[in-house]
Amino acid sequence: MICRVCGGPLTEFFDFGRQPLSDAFLTADDLDRQFFFRLAVGACESCTMVQLVEEVARDRMFHDAYPYLSSGSSAMRRHFEETAQFLTDGELGGPDPFIVEIGCNDGVMLKTIGKAGIRHLGVEPSGGVARMARAEGVRVRTDFFEEASATRVLGEEGPADVIYAANTICHIPYLDSVFRGVDALLKTDGVFVFEDPYFGDIVERNTFDQIYDEHFFFFTVRSVQAMAERMGFELVDVRRLPVHGGEVRYTIARAGRRRPSERVAAMVEEEAGRGLAAPATLARFGANIESIRHDLVELLQDLRAQGKRVIGYGATAKSATVTNYCGIGPDLIPFVCDTTPAKHGRLMPGSHIPVRPAEAMSDPYPDYALLFAWNHAEEIMAKEQEFRAAGGRWILYTPDVRIV
Ligand code: SAH
Ligand code: TMP
Ligand code: ZN
Repeated sequence: MICRVCGGPLTEFFDFGRQPLSDAFLTADDLDRQFFFRLAVGACESCTMVQLVEEVARDRMFHDAYPYLSSGSSAMRRHFEETAQFLTDGELGGPDPFIVEIGCNDGVMLKTIGKAGIRHLGVEPSGGVARMARAEGVRVRTDFFEEASATRVLGEEGPADVIYAANTICHIPYLDSVFRGVDALLKTDGVFVFEDPYFGDIVERNTFDQIYDEHFFFFTVRSVQAMAERMGFELVDVRRLPVHGGEVRYTIARAGRRRPSERVAAMVEEEAGRGLAAPATLARFGANIESIRHDLVELLQDLRAQGKRVIGYGATAKSATVTNYCGIGPDLIPFVCDTTPAKHGRLMPGSHIPVRPAEAMSDPYPDYALLFAWNHAEEIMAKEQEFRAAGGRWILYTPDVRIV
């Protein structure tokens, strides 16, 4: 096993066993042709990058029927409006600016950029969501971003001031090709800005369900800094973001072109101080994952024995790891409700728990709802106040199993 970034030796620290594709919501016909792979994570002994040890072919995950819609949360819509404003006020402030977004999904960020009249292009391989972005007035190329497609974009559109990505760079194992593409497409003094779940928060909050097929890398400031350097770039700024359970936004420039902010060194130091990539930290994280599995299964079995009704809330990609690793099926959770039309009437991958529309929640209200979409807790709890008023309680499983 070798590191996908630097080729150094990879030490595996947790194995979730055989897992399905997290976003492969099933019809009855799909049941006998499910794809499974071994979901396990390791850390590079050389550059410290945390990553999956087995890679799933990209076309199996990102295709015309990819179901995830970025605009499904009002908090995330607001976050990306603010992001568009931040870019417009900052790096896109020059004459005739041009921005390329890697993985624009349904256009949640670029539609604000487009409305402001700024030249832009989304590069998005999943055809269904790309069409939704186009319907919002966003220009999209249906393609994977990599060296070859980036070079074609350069030829057709010219160089970019900003290359931006949210929750996408961590999905891409072939980052050497991505960086060569960025190098080809970015203006000399342009920036590559990306934001992804922060491994520091994952470990601190025990959010082990961030680990699934699509999330190939789990970044730290140190590992991103090392990666940027290796690719001829430099990490010049970092900002923590409160979304999706804690993320970091990284700003990368060509080596020597910008003075790195003090925040970079401060975060590298903080990570070293807490031993973020140290074997003892990773082992403790693994032990916590096992305790959560034990406690969650015990709680669900107890509630069933008491005759309580428990449903799931949010058929997230993350929930595939929870249900399949914990062995939670329709016997413990008869259905999961979710707002995404493409998931309705389908079965969750591996666990075969049916997915129903959000309205199923109140028909009638259950005793408990297991909140798989914990990253949207504030928004969801605010809109489901009637559930609480009816005596319903939420079950959370991170940082530990609890009823609230
Ligand atoms: N930026 C959005 C979408 C995140 S989901 C948000 O933050 O909500 C990840 C997206 O990356 C998916 O839409 C997927 O199709 C896309 N993707 C995966 N590999 C890619 C690649 N190589 N180039 C561009 N997009 C990619
Ligand atoms: P995410 O955690 O990857 O963003 O996925 C969130 C999932 O939860 C997605 O399938 C949509 C669903 N969802 C709801 O069902 N209700 C909601 O209010 C929100 C915000 C999300
Ligand atoms: Zn490495």
